[in-house]
Amino acid sequence: MKKHYLNFLLVGLVSLSLSSLAIADDDEDEHEGFFSRFSQSSVTIPQNKLYQSDCASCHMAYQPNLLPSASWEKLMAPKALEDHFGDNAEVNEQDRLSILAYLKTYAADKKGKRLLRFSKGESPLRITELRYFKREHNEIPKRMVQGNPKVRSLSNCAACHTGAERGNFGERGIRIPGYGYWED
Ligand code: HEC
Ligand code: HEC
Repeated sequence: MKKHYLNFLLVGLVSLSLSSLAIADDDEDEHEGFFSRFSQSSVTIPQNKLYQSDCASCHMAYQPNLLPSASWEKLMAPKALEDHFGDNAEVNEQDRLSILAYLKTYAADKKGKRLLRFSKGESPLRITELRYFKREHNEIPKRMVQGNPKVRSLSNCAACHTGAERGNFGERGIRIPGYGYWED
């Protein structure tokens, strides 16, 4: 009995100090998420400066292990970058090769640490087009995504996954803006 109580206290203390490091947010449901920032499902991949500067200005730096290498090859082809979902995301050739090498080293099919499952031969241009991704997200009503001014698109991972930038997509860290924590 005593030991359990102690453990609980300890977890509480660690959470407290870590959560004060987290970016402050002014949502009223903050307390519900007190323990939810510490899901075990995060995967650590070294950051890459070039990738951050060239690929994270319009959206978050999608973790390399969200897509298989064949997808990154297609996305990072020079022609594809010129017309990147309607935007121009061109980078110089040296950067392109270097970023591609980084993405492939940590791609979903490489390290046994993928964040999303994919079927053999599946290599879409989008994470949001992976069958597994669609299955995980098909229960979310449109009003919470497209109809939600703070989300707009499923590509906007960090709008709902509070740990997305750290590669943490665990269920306990999911909060839909305007709707609160997700309960399955
Ligand atoms: C000029 C802005 C811009 C830059 C720079 C940019 N992107 Fe994008 N990216 C976009 C847009 C716009 C989308 C589509 C988002 C949507 O549909 O909501 C997108 C989507 C993506 C997606 C698919 C997300 C999904 O829907 O699953 C990936 C992967 C991606 N970008 C990777 C990259 C990489 C790698 C780089 C660097 C070479 C990069 N982006 C640079 C604008 C940009
Ligand atoms: C509108 C909010 C929203 C957005 C945007 C969103 N997700 Fe999710 N995601 C969810 C919800 C809700 C679930 C849980 C679904 C369930 O379990 O019923 C989920 C589940 C997941 C899971 C499975 C987690 C687990 O532990 O089983 C992964 C991985 C994931 N999302 C990754 C992503 C990535 C990567 C992006 C961006 C490309 C993204 N999500 C965008 C809301 C969102």
